[in-house]
Amino acid sequence: MSPYAMTRTLPEDATGAALRADVLHGLTGSPKTLPPKWFYDAHGSDLFDEITTLPEYYPTRAEREILVARATEIAAATGARTLVELGSGSSDKTRHLLDAFPELTTYIPVDVSESALRGAAKLLLAEHPALDIHALVADFTRALVLPTTPGPRLVAFLGGTIGNLLPEERAEFLTSVRGLLSPGDFFLLGTDLVKDEATLVAAYDDRAGVTAAFNKNVLTVVNRELDADFDLGAFDHVAVWDPEREWIEMRLRSTVAQTVKVPALDLAVNFAAGETLRTEVSAKFRREGVQAELAAAGLELVRWWPDSEGRFTLSLSSVPAA
Ligand code: SAH
Ligand code: AVI
Repeated sequence: MSPYAMTRTLPEDATGAALRADVLHGLTGSPKTLPPKWFYDAHGSDLFDEITTLPEYYPTRAEREILVARATEIAAATGARTLVELGSGSSDKTRHLLDAFPELTTYIPVDVSESALRGAAKLLLAEHPALDIHALVADFTRALVLPTTPGPRLVAFLGGTIGNLLPEERAEFLTSVRGLLSPGDFFLLGTDLVKDEATLVAAYDDRAGVTAAFNKNVLTVVNRELDADFDLGAFDHVAVWDPEREWIEMRLRSTVAQTVKVPALDLAVNFAAGETLRTEVSAKFRREGVQAELAAAGLELVRWWPDSEGRFTLSLSSVPAA
């Protein structure tokens, strides 16, 4: 028996059904796309953790610096007794919060990656044996049902993962976060900031090729789960900055004209030589945009904490008084 609770909010076959629906929709659309949540099988989660240690990938270091500097202030401002973390992954940076919250009784990490949740829960429980850890295997873009736990509740969404949602998905997501909060609760959000193109592109196209392997891992997932025959050697990793939409786009570029079969969907997908498949957007933000998006969802920005180099920000928002 695990000393932490784990709940799967989706039926066992829901992941397979969702993957089939996303792959069918994404590979028959124009341009071709796949949603980034499918990067994160056990291997993909490990590759992401490796990315966070790369010299070019500054967001994790910048956010950690802010958490170390502000954890006590966040604890004092929120008085949180329950911390809910969406897309918690390894929960590595979260320990800076857990260490600083004297009133905290409950931690609810939420992730699609069961392997990441299990690894994190084990480590954190060893460090905080009195903490009630209730891991949720769930898709944070779907309606979340959280266990009833002591308030105030702080919902955290770290790492800049909000940037991996498209603008309309973000609006929907923020509205659903607002639905998880009552007056007196707070939302802690990590956002990567707009900066020079060279820094951004390097962060998504590292010299060691870890991000390329992470990007291609989505093809491995589709091969394994849907019996597809993507040849990873016939696709190149591409990271481009879109200055209009202010996001990095990760793509996989077919190096040859080829047909990929996805037998589980009875599908044959033609790629022209040079055609790209979009696998992720990673939007970068400015203060006004974050504030406006929060406000549109009924949340009021109350603190804005950039790192010392102005690369990344943690913001705290609350439910405005009625
Ligand atoms: N918060 C961590 C991890 C960021 S990586 C950090 O700051 O380092 C993004 C995490 O979100 C991964 O663990 C991935 O499995 C999870 N994730 C991505 N899409 C998701 C979704 N739709 N629902 C739940 N978790 C998701
Ligand atoms: C999880 N997310 C915030 C990462 C990002 O920077 O957009 C995922 C990632 N993609 C490539 N490298 C890291």
